[in-house]
Amino acid sequence: MHPLIFIFSSFLLLLSPISAINFPYESIQLTDSDISIFPDLKFGDSSLKISTQDTPECKSFPGDPSWPADSDWSRLNSVLNGSLLHPLPLGAPCYQGPSYNLSKCQAVNSITGYTAAAREDPLAVITLWAEGGTCLPSLNATGACEQGGYPVYVINVTTVKDIQAGINFARNRNLRLVIKNAGHDFGGRSVGAGSLSIWTYHLKSFEFLPEFSIGEYKGMAVKVGAGIEAWELFNYMSIYNITVVAPGGSSVGVGGGWMAGGGHGWLTSKYGLGSDQVLSIQVVTARWEIGTFGIVTSFIMKAYPPITITQNSLNFIGAVASGNKSTTAPSERFTIYDGETFFKGVSLYYRFAKKIVDAGGIGFSYVTPLGNNRYSFTTTNSLPGLTQAQVVDLMQPLYDDLKVAGLNIANPKSLSTSPYGHQGSDGGTSQYNVRYRSRLIPRKNWEDDNLWNQTFGAIRKSIEAGFTFHGTLNGPSKKIAGWPGSSSGVNPAWRPSVMHSMLIETQAMGLTAQQADDEEAKIQDSMDLWRELTPGAGSYINEGDPGEQNWQWSFFGDLYPQLLQTKRRRDPWGLFWAITTVGSEGWEVKTEDGYPSSQNGRLCRVGYGG
Ligand SMILES: Cc1cc2nc3c(=O)[nH]c(=O)nc-3n(C[C@H](O)[C@H](O)[C@H](O)COP(=O)(O)OP(=O)(O)OC[C@H]3O[C@@H](n4cnc5c(N)ncnc54)[C@H](O)[C@@H]3O)c2cc1C
Ligand SMILES: *[C@@H]1O[C@H](CO)[C@@H](O)[C@H](O)[C@H]1NC(C)=O
Ligand SMILES: *[C@@H]1O[C@H](CO)[C@@H](O)[C@H](O)[C@H]1NC(C)=O
Ligand SMILES: *[C@@H]1O[C@H](CO)[C@@H](O)[C@H](O)[C@H]1NC(C)=O
Ligand SMILES: *[C@@H]1O[C@H](CO)[C@@H](O)[C@H](O)[C@H]1NC(C)=O
Ligand SMILES: *[C@@H]1O[C@H](CO)[C@@H](O)[C@H](O)[C@H]1NC(C)=O
Ligand SMILES: *[C@@H]1O[C@H](CO)[C@@H](O)[C@H](O)[C@H]1NC(C)=O
Ligand SMILES: *[C@@H]1O[C@H](CO)[C@@H](O)[C@H](O)[C@H]1NC(C)=O
Repeated sequence: MHPLIFIFSSFLLLLSPISAINFPYESIQLTDSDISIFPDLKFGDSSLKISTQDTPECKSFPGDPSWPADSDWSRLNSVLNGSLLHPLPLGAPCYQGPSYNLSKCQAVNSITGYTAAAREDPLAVITLWAEGGTCLPSLNATGACEQGGYPVYVINVTTVKDIQAGINFARNRNLRLVIKNAGHDFGGRSVGAGSLSIWTYHLKSFEFLPEFSIGEYKGMAVKVGAGIEAWELFNYMSIYNITVVAPGGSSVGVGGGWMAGGGHGWLTSKYGLGSDQVLSIQVVTARWEIGTFGIVTSFIMKAYPPITITQNSLNFIGAVASGNKSTTAPSERFTIYDGETFFKGVSLYYRFAKKIVDAGGIGFSYVTPLGNNRYSFTTTNSLPGLTQAQVVDLMQPLYDDLKVAGLNIANPKSLSTSPYGHQGSDGGTSQYNVRYRSRLIPRKNWEDDNLWNQTFGAIRKSIEAGFTFHGTLNGPSKKIAGWPGSSSGVNPAWRPSVMHSMLIETQAMGLTAQQADDEEAKIQDSMDLWRELTPGAGSYINEGDPGEQNWQWSFFGDLYPQLLQTKRRRDPWGLFWAITTVGSEGWEVKTEDGYPSSQNGRLCRVGYGG
């Protein structure tokens, strides 16, 4: 048939097939006899010249004459051996109508976060606003449960055949296609109104490869199914006594957006990004063959010997208006400083960030407005491979500087050291109805006192404007990435960066498009300050703004033109579409209310017929 072959991970530069080692589910593929029974499943021919003007302006939408008939969907389902789902949103039992069921609604309502029920749900995602917030689970729901930006049909993938059939059906019937794994995308990239979704979450296979060689790499590796989550990878690390670079968030999917967009975690400054670990990758493309833009079914990553991580934490609070001097309030866990001292301390920490990163460590910090002109600063610094004494020594100069600045905080001597690979489970994560803005701040900004002061001044201003600041210290340089990561298609802005800086904005449900636009404009004022001080730097697509200005440059840097060329060659149909991904400027979502970056509308070509 059409064998899938391994390719190097360097999504862009190295394409070299090697002998295939398939998981059993990768050998189950669409056959000529399936296609002869149901011609809507035929493979595409990308050698045909596809003219934009010969194709419809918009993807087919439910209710359109071109939308597949129920009988077409059931034929697809029989080829898929029953894995086609036609699901309603989790909140459906709360709404009057055939699905109404109070006890089910109560059960969904008692889910305070994104629990087991939601993670196993074919539609549910972490971010509600991009879907349109339709059919929210609520005990006093009014109106009707609408599908909104959620897909209409979902293929619960267990074989490569499921993916091939889904891709071919979507391409041949002009359907909007969505891919969902663990549903953690913050920007609505795993939902889409009127779509068919390919859900890869159940591809949970894993294999340890004690000796693997490819190109310049020779050593331990692991082969991972596309649906594996970070916590599952941690369990395998513990079983096999190895280290694999995994996402920091334990419920994040490893093989979806995390790996394709870069992917940071506890070991970023020691072994590089998630994408730097990938030695080969199996994908199904828009046509069928190997390629660089497609649906991942499995991949092979580097593995390392076991490692421990030692952690240091530092937390304090600032009260800006009161001029309250360093007093420990009995009701608060952290010391409270006056505003100037607080921001001096925060600046000293971030300035010190470079030393943490250069020691192979990462930091995970937040500055959070608490209201009443109070702010909290919290950080955890994680140093892989360092002993407690080494971490205490490393951190001492920061505590000396803090003392001089008026923050008399003791350098903690008793630290926790624990194995990176560990046994555990994950209860799911709460729904993060947030919108991120991101900037990868380069090393240059640390190397000049004046530029540092301006950089921190811009960060402080955005915090004082009311936004939560999230600073993750990461140093995935080219040198650390090694082969083949150093020549991959990941955003080049990662390489010189010391801190991935974010502003987090919680999106209230029920905002009007105008209110959301106003909020966007306000946060962009803060981002502009950051951009001015980091010319040529970029932004991390997975924790960035789906409304990012000049996103091609911000998310992909100067690799964009080459990536776009590859995308057009591999997927001339524009089948794979998600907001701010390569080639997405050719299409837009037409919503009824114009809510910024919403996925709740038809997907149509930009400038069609013009
Ligand atoms: C709680 C939480 C913690 C996080 N922690 C981290 C962190 O520590 N480090 C970090 O870098 N990021 C982190 N993120 C961001 C995370 O990297 C992205 O949200 C990532 O895209 C999530 O992948 P997913 O498979 O869970 O998401 P999904 O929403 O299912 O997919 C994300 C994107 O990947 C595409 N995709 C999914 N599966 C496939 C596939 N098989 N083939 C091709 N494309 C596919 C989807 O179409 C979508 O565009 C975190 C997010 C959350 C919500
Ligand atoms: C189809 O599904 C049935 C039951 O769900 C299963 O027994 C059978 O092995 C499946 N066939 C294929 C080809 O996957
Ligand atoms: C409502 O859902 C519960 C399961 O939560 C089920 O036991 C019950 O039969 C359902 N009621 C109706 C009327 O469908
Ligand atoms: C639903 O009911 C709760 C109290 O039971 C109330 O606080 C809330 O405002 C109600 N929501 C709506 C949309 O009416
Ligand atoms: C999806 O498929 C998996 C594997 O066959 C199964 O365990 C799961 O229950 C399915 N989920 C749904 C919602 O059908
Ligand atoms: C785990 O691996 C390390 C080094 O690779 C080795 O020293 C240790 O003995 C191994 N432990 C077990 C339980 O296999
Ligand atoms: C300082 O803050 C503490 C804790 O909130 C409060 O109890 C105290 O009264 C404040 N002191 C002054 C001088 O404002
Ligand atoms: C930077 O700020 C610090 C603290 O506010 C100040 O002491 C120092 O002089 C400033 N340096 C420059 C070059 O402006």
